[in-house]
Amino acid sequence: MAVPAPQEPALEDFAGDALAGLSATPKTLPSKYLYDTRGSELFEAICEQPEYYPTRTELAILKREANAMAEAVGPRAMVVEYGSGSGIKTQRLLSALADPVAYVPIEISHSALNASVAELAAQFPHIEMLPLCADFLQTVPLPEPERAAERVLIFFPGSTLGNFANEAAVELLATMRAEMGENGAALVGIDLKKDPAMIEAAYNDAAGVTADFTLNLLDRMNRELDANFDRGCFSHRARYNAIAGRIETHIVSEIAQTVLVAGRSIDFAAGEGILVEYSCKYSQSDFAAMAHRAGLVVTRSWTDPEKRFALQLVEPLPELAV
Ligand code: AVI
Repeated sequence: MAVPAPQEPALEDFAGDALAGLSATPKTLPSKYLYDTRGSELFEAICEQPEYYPTRTELAILKREANAMAEAVGPRAMVVEYGSGSGIKTQRLLSALADPVAYVPIEISHSALNASVAELAAQFPHIEMLPLCADFLQTVPLPEPERAAERVLIFFPGSTLGNFANEAAVELLATMRAEMGENGAALVGIDLKKDPAMIEAAYNDAAGVTADFTLNLLDRMNRELDANFDRGCFSHRARYNAIAGRIETHIVSEIAQTVLVAGRSIDFAAGEGILVEYSCKYSQSDFAAMAHRAGLVVTRSWTDPEKRFALQLVEPLPELAV
């Protein structure tokens, strides 16, 4: 089946976002900028690290529970994935579902979108591929598949929801609610709260891949924003904040220093951090409460025997009869 060319999204303003975040107190940088080509490669490598349990745990759940998920979703779904497609996870879902009519990945990066769709199109020639080059944080009109879909199923694996602060995560769930329509559903992967030592180890792997992933953002600013960060004078710090229920990842300045970024001087005190990522962890009830605020209800949940990770099926909250 032919793959239509995706449309161009609006360009991101890396310089504007970086300068705004580095001028704020405390300093922050949006985590989406961690994913340039090198950052995406490093994230793939993180998923292979023995300490990083989320990917293999979610994959195992998808493998073991695929038939139950397919039964809960029903036949002829149009699968809409937020993000460029997660390779083997998407393959497992599409293989299990009964006669899915179309696959719609929504992704801002053209190249990531094209690469994932090319691979899936070869593997699933009977599923219509309708890639959408857009920001999934915005509600976008979904394409019409050639064959009518019974329902829309939004797939958002990987606990990527956890990279959004709680208010933003509720907004994203509300966007899903708007996209899926009255008869739709979403299958959302979430990392569950557990022993903080296990969570912290996942973000501080012994091989230093996560540190490399975080500090790559400095290299990216040097390259793309004409900055002069000296990587040796900064370090990676990922700590679990048990009260907030999240890993907070910072790039920490080891010394007092001034760095040039896009022509502007940015001062750092010794020990000052730039917040670059949240990775929120949830209990089942934390997630159910967020879903409820977004007009959704958890109808099924699949987890692993150690209850490390869960895939949650959410559907629109039934309207109260008046
Ligand atoms: C993509 N996301 C869910 C990962 C996470 O666990 O927050 C990104 C990541 N950052 C460091 N390690 C993994």
